[in-house]
Amino acid sequence: MLATNTLGTGGPAVGAIGLGCMGMSHGYDPHGRDDAASAAVIGQALDAGVNLLDTADVYGPCTNEELVGAALAGRRDEAVLATKVGLVADGRHPLGRRNDGRPEHVRASIDASLRRLGTDRVDLYQLHRVDPEVPIEESWAAMAEAVAAGKAGRIGLSEVSVAEIERASAVHPVASVQSELSVWTPEALADVVPYCQANGIAFLAYAPLGRGFLTGRFRSADDIADGDWRRTNPRFQPDALDANRAITDAIRRIAERRGAGPGQVALAWTRAQAGCVVPIPGTKTPRYLAENAAAAGVELTSEDLAELDAAPPAVGTRYRFVGSARP
Ligand SMILES: NC(=O)c1ccc[n+]([C@@H]2O[C@H](COP(=O)([O-])OP(=O)(O)OC[C@H]3O[C@@H](n4cnc5c(N)ncnc54)[C@H](OP(=O)(O)O)[C@@H]3O)[C@@H](O)[C@H]2O)c1
Repeated sequence: MLATNTLGTGGPAVGAIGLGCMGMSHGYDPHGRDDAASAAVIGQALDAGVNLLDTADVYGPCTNEELVGAALAGRRDEAVLATKVGLVADGRHPLGRRNDGRPEHVRASIDASLRRLGTDRVDLYQLHRVDPEVPIEESWAAMAEAVAAGKAGRIGLSEVSVAEIERASAVHPVASVQSELSVWTPEALADVVPYCQANGIAFLAYAPLGRGFLTGRFRSADDIADGDWRRTNPRFQPDALDANRAITDAIRRIAERRGAGPGQVALAWTRAQAGCVVPIPGTKTPRYLAENAAAAGVELTSEDLAELDAAPPAVGTRYRFVGSARP
């Protein structure tokens, strides 16, 4: 029996492991892109019960939604489809993108996303970032309009504090919160994850494999392709990579004990933190998809979890521009 969860209280059933589609056309490995192969991985995911698919209008920009839409032709009903709004590609900005949570932007963007996705309704529409220039209540009210219009089943937030979840909840129910959570990025466990667990909100753990690092795949910075965003990420710089290997060593020891892959242990760790957590690992590789889907059956003992929690903290911030609008 395939393990399942729900997208928040009363939400649609989702596989215990989801699929992040970003890396199929954005951020990573620009030379390894192959839309047809990625579309086949999305089909493989649906076959395996990995039905929660995550994309965003800023990925590409736009091309990732088009890829997901094409892959879902004839299979839309099998997916729980999630996209996001609120970040806009902008070459003049140091990050290459800026926040836009204005209500008029949200209203215009849902229709564009639906067109690219080839559907008349997404199951989850997420505010990618809170725009510091726009009160969250205003962005969120525009998101709620998409629900009232039947264009979105439910709405969710990303990278928010508990206070922001509470402010949004006063306007319209928050179905999900998507934020980074992994063995080397546990910060959300302090408050956001417990809040979600207590309030029937799904927590979608993004980058649960530490952008691939926690699988043990990157032994040195030379393993990262030219043009790959990770080449600029503090945790992937040579000295940081060397230090962070202590974390993958701990994961590997547990993987050997459990007869599992290191990536499976990293995913099982996220699921063990709270029942509301649904990790959304990203992959465009059939073998990895199969391995990640099978992680739903990997259970860690309290000793395993304690050993992972005792691993040294990550060296390097998780984004290059800490404290600014992050990608
Ligand atoms: N809300 C936000 O702000 C935000 C930010 C970042 C990401 N996200 C979402 O979260 C999703 C996942 O995050 P992510 O893709 O950044 O990081 P991730 O899931 O931690 O790692 C993805 C990387 O790990 C590799 N990988 C996947 N499974 C593997 C396995 N079993 N063995 C070895 N390597 C494996 C992938 O390789 P291949 O791709 O080469 O197969 C890719 O390079 C994204 O796709 C996106 O939907 C959201």
